[in-house]
Amino acid sequence: MAERNEYSVQFDEARDLAEAFLYGCFMGDGPQVQLYEAMRYSLLAGGKRIRPVLTLKFAEAVGGDMKEVLPVACAVEMLHTYSLIHDDLPCMDNDVLRRGRPTNHVVYGECVATLAGDALQAAAFSTLLSAKLPADRLCLAAKILAEAAGEDGMCAGQVLDMDGENRSLSLDEVRTVHHYKTAALIRGACMMGVAAGGGTPEQMEAAGRYADAIGLAFQIRDDMLDVTSTEQEMGKSVRIDMVNGKSTFASILGLEECARIVDEQTAIAEEEAAVFDNAGFFRWFARKLANRKN
Ligand code: IPE
Ligand code: IPE
Ligand code: MG
Ligand code: MG
Ligand code: MG
Repeated sequence: MAERNEYSVQFDEARDLAEAFLYGCFMGDGPQVQLYEAMRYSLLAGGKRIRPVLTLKFAEAVGGDMKEVLPVACAVEMLHTYSLIHDDLPCMDNDVLRRGRPTNHVVYGECVATLAGDALQAAAFSTLLSAKLPADRLCLAAKILAEAAGEDGMCAGQVLDMDGENRSLSLDEVRTVHHYKTAALIRGACMMGVAAGGGTPEQMEAAGRYADAIGLAFQIRDDMLDVTSTEQEMGKSVRIDMVNGKSTFASILGLEECARIVDEQTAIAEEEAAVFDNAGFFRWFARKLANRKN
């Protein structure tokens, strides 16, 4: 991960653009200043920013301009951050550490944390729609985000994940949970990039297939790291899946088989990248995620 090459330079460039944009958000000082603060607390706590980078790089790969697409890319990160704040609430994973800091509800209380998540979700759409891009591209990107986040996307996965606590899920069931709770938003991020950059339907489909593969691999890797890593390295609690009685790829298949599937999915993603300009970046990115340590 630490090695420098042309692709890691491209990653850093896109991530830094997103980071700078996010730093300018929610700076108001009205009577609801505590809400702004809570939103910024989680948003600016140093996530990896893989989703906005995917949006930016897919937009660029289909002929778009990364700077113009920035509000669309940062919308995904806002939505993702909301999902993390809610995921950590006592009624869900009851987690106390996120992005190297005490979780939002530990600092601001459950009420403000819930509302900070709600407001980040709303802000995701207003931010996306503020991009200076043709209206048809924005409408499509907003629709993709809504579908990725909602009842047939991330929220579906979170309900199934909670419903599976303290019972043994089959491998197929866990695969379905992963598909919705994690791959759906990663898929949304890639496809929003194609939409915002004005890509073709074929490019949209290829981006979706690439994202499904890296999305599944990403959550399997997350389950593995929950078993093998440390709080310090992850910036979030570890061994929490076991504490919460979750069925995961790691608990069902063991770490070796997990590694094999991550590798297999990454190889699928590498193939799907072929149709894009800068396929080398997307291949490097898929491998980087497969080998990630946090
Ligand atoms: C964490 O996502 C939640 C999962 C889907 C596993 P990330 O691992 O992308 O978290 P951040 O954004 O870097 O904090
Ligand atoms: C979370 O999955 C997926 C989300 C929609 C946030 P996890 O519950 O495994 O994510 P972490 O491990 O808390 O980041
Ligand atoms: Mg969870
Ligand atoms: Mg969690
Ligand atoms: Mg996890």
